[in-house]
Amino acid sequence: MNPALTQFGTQMSHLTGVRAIMKDIIETLRAGNGQEFINLSAGNPVILPAVEQLWRDCTTELLASADYGEVVCRYGSSQGYQPLIEAIQRDFNQRYGLNLSDRNILITPGSQALYFYAANALGGYTPSGDLKQIVLPLSPDYTGYGGVTLIPEALVAYKPALDIDESAHRFKYRPDFSQLEINETTGFVLFSRPCNPTGNVLTDEEVQKIAALATPHNVPVLIDSAYAPPFPALNFTEMTPVFGGNIVHCMSLSKAGLPGERVGIAIGDEKVIQVLESFQTNLCIHSSRYGQAIAARAIASGALAEISTQVIRPYYQKKFTVVETSLDQAMPQDIPWFLHRGEGAIFAWLWLQDLPITDWEFYQQLKQVGVIVVPGSSFFPGLSENWPHKQQCVRISLTASNEEIAIGMQRLAQVVTKVYQLTAASEGVA
Ligand SMILES: Cc1ncc(COP(=O)(O)O)c(C=O)c1O
Repeated sequence: MNPALTQFGTQMSHLTGVRAIMKDIIETLRAGNGQEFINLSAGNPVILPAVEQLWRDCTTELLASADYGEVVCRYGSSQGYQPLIEAIQRDFNQRYGLNLSDRNILITPGSQALYFYAANALGGYTPSGDLKQIVLPLSPDYTGYGGVTLIPEALVAYKPALDIDESAHRFKYRPDFSQLEINETTGFVLFSRPCNPTGNVLTDEEVQKIAALATPHNVPVLIDSAYAPPFPALNFTEMTPVFGGNIVHCMSLSKAGLPGERVGIAIGDEKVIQVLESFQTNLCIHSSRYGQAIAARAIASGALAEISTQVIRPYYQKKFTVVETSLDQAMPQDIPWFLHRGEGAIFAWLWLQDLPITDWEFYQQLKQVGVIVVPGSSFFPGLSENWPHKQQCVRISLTASNEEIAIGMQRLAQVVTKVYQLTAASEGVA
């Protein structure tokens, strides 16, 4: 059957960004032809035994409790499972000195759903026909933002400023406040902190500055905190979560070991929360209550925050060190390669300045030597500008073993050397 699709149907039946590349990766891994691949493309978190055990224990507790029937055999409120909302309210009020009421909190089936609600409730055309933009203040950012709006022209991203340490081969993206426009045409602002794919953490001051630009225009600022403290606490640099005013602090339990259960959390102004909640009621009624019930236990006991800093953070932080040291040892000094400062998340981001081939071609060459990374151009949703930098980066996942990462980086360095040498040679001949 080949049913006619609506505009929205066409839009939503396409895979965007990295999801499209994942298809190529899965086919490559399947075809294999006897070749063993070092897969540095995964976005799925590693199953850490202590983390799995925590969720197993919470499940055992739930199964033994009188709440079980109430949790899985009945519908609940769209806002979320009350004990989870209370656990978050108590934890955040105490941890950050806030004064949250339960009306400031919404539970969603994963945080991707939350961005879909926001993208279509706050971005797109108003009843009077004006376009409200979804502003990504610092590109590159999470590839999934490319697929959340039904109105693609609503998504607008800004090119960053580059903070480069030439001799150390390191760099960092910063919001370019000389370009960034947040005004009456803005529906809401969105960025991940720590950032997938780059590991960047916007400073507290940068966040405050963005929030202040948005305040006079009544514009919500959604901070995607999928990797932030208190859980999964995948920040390797000091950072303070920012709350209050127009900020909606958005969380996910996926990187805290629960991606299969789909639990997202929004904390923000009651009015914004209500809009998102109604969207959710219309879309799917509510998030699965089993995941919410085990999350309530892990948060209320303090175990989730504890395991985040004691187990999850050090695990990935060590992997980043392996990437860094392997690249420092293997990469040629005279080539302009720059690793993004590893400030958090579960990825490393490598920029190969003046790369003579595209990121896609580089990805294909790496496949030839048995290494799979993700070409970087999929991480610039909303940035229509022609910018060579978009084709000069790759994302390296920190989910492989230390040995695999080290070998992967050595092979990558060999491919880099070859690619730059070939061009230098051909330029010499010319
Ligand atoms: C920055 C960021 N935001 C949101 C998500 C979506 O997470 P989930 O829908 O599982 O909460 C991810 C997943 O990888 C992510 O990296």
